[in-house]
Amino acid sequence: MNARVDIPAQVEHRALPPVTHDEYARQEFVRAFKEHLVKHVHGGNRAVYEAKVKPAFQRKHKRAPKTRFEVRDEMVREPYYQMFSALLRTSQEMMWSSCQIPVARDLQALNKTIKQAQKKKKSLGSLRLNPELPIPKYHTAVDIHCQPGGYHSEFMPEDASAGMVYDRAVHVYAMGQMGPFNNDMGASIVMWLKQHYPDFKPKRILDLGCSVGHSTVPYAEAFPDAEVHAIDVAAPMLRYAHARAEDLGVAVHYSQQNAEGTDFADGSFDLIVSHILLHETSQRGINNIVKECHRLLAKGGMMIHAETPPYAGMDPFDAFLLDWDTRNNNEPFWSRSHELDLKALSQQGGFDPALEFEDLIPSAFQVAQATRSHKFQGGDFGGGGLWFIYGNRK
Ligand SMILES: C[S@@+](CC[C@H](N)C(=O)[O-])C[C@H]1O[C@@H](n2cnc3c(N)ncnc32)[C@H](O)[C@@H]1O
Repeated sequence: MNARVDIPAQVEHRALPPVTHDEYARQEFVRAFKEHLVKHVHGGNRAVYEAKVKPAFQRKHKRAPKTRFEVRDEMVREPYYQMFSALLRTSQEMMWSSCQIPVARDLQALNKTIKQAQKKKKSLGSLRLNPELPIPKYHTAVDIHCQPGGYHSEFMPEDASAGMVYDRAVHVYAMGQMGPFNNDMGASIVMWLKQHYPDFKPKRILDLGCSVGHSTVPYAEAFPDAEVHAIDVAAPMLRYAHARAEDLGVAVHYSQQNAEGTDFADGSFDLIVSHILLHETSQRGINNIVKECHRLLAKGGMMIHAETPPYAGMDPFDAFLLDWDTRNNNEPFWSRSHELDLKALSQQGGFDPALEFEDLIPSAFQVAQATRSHKFQGGDFGGGGLWFIYGNRK
């Protein structure tokens, strides 16, 4: 079905909802539409800013804009930006609906397939759900990134549909740039760890806010002797994650828990990771999560959180564009989460701030693409083939 050049198709597995020809064409249209916006329309915003908005601001204030807020106040009045922003928002809404249609069409049968993984006699990993777990307010208050019902809503008993939709939607959202397994964040941290800490062999690994386990699986593959756990507050994501991992032949122990306070024992992990979890929580949530990481890590262990880069040191125009999600994509904590003092965050969590680290690390997928095609393709997605990581040794 894949007729694209340079973009690998998403890997098929039994949990991934099948699509008809027309459903696939619709999803591919949304992916290509977003790619067009990112590659060919996005850049025009800077042109408008440099040629018109910034000079006008300078004439009026006798200086250039200093903050993303000053840039935004002017840019939101520009028809070019209004067009770009409206189309990007539309692509997000079309992405969810194009991925929901095949799931809604056959929900009962799809959920049966997911359930079969739980009944398998020889499970590689496990699934532990807690129907009593309260869903944090930061997830019930809004449909995060316009995902209808968010991660946690169930549309029938023992539903995994949010996971089914999410797996496909990530491929469309990232325009295939997270690789055939949508696993680029986990794979990139694994690559960084192997390069920088070749002797680090964690025996127990925990992934926080794992959703459908895209980033979890690379750790289980890279450290086959480790026991890998992954938690999320949303049962539909975990049901799907478990079925997906079993079908990919990977052992992961999934449980429904809040990363702000888990039931694992003190000092029981050597490596704790998260991937784009922190910005979807709250100030109190982040503080609690870092404290919990400190409690759960053994001496010498490491926590690593992958995110998009902080605003500090960023050109105000770039910060304004990165801030788009806060106001236009139901990401209420996005803005603030990019301004945190990460050393102070570590310290309040009990870590030694001298052992705190921050880095921009290469995308494993972009490196592999560059090797395949002998050119570096950074710049088409996110931070130009780089992920931001923040972490601490204990
Ligand atoms: C953007 S997704 C994470 C993507 C995933 N880590 C990956 O790499 O593919 C955020 C996930 O975090 C979960 N989540 C949010 N707050 C949480 C919390 N306090 N504890 C555990 N999971 C949480 C959400 O339910 C959602 O599945």
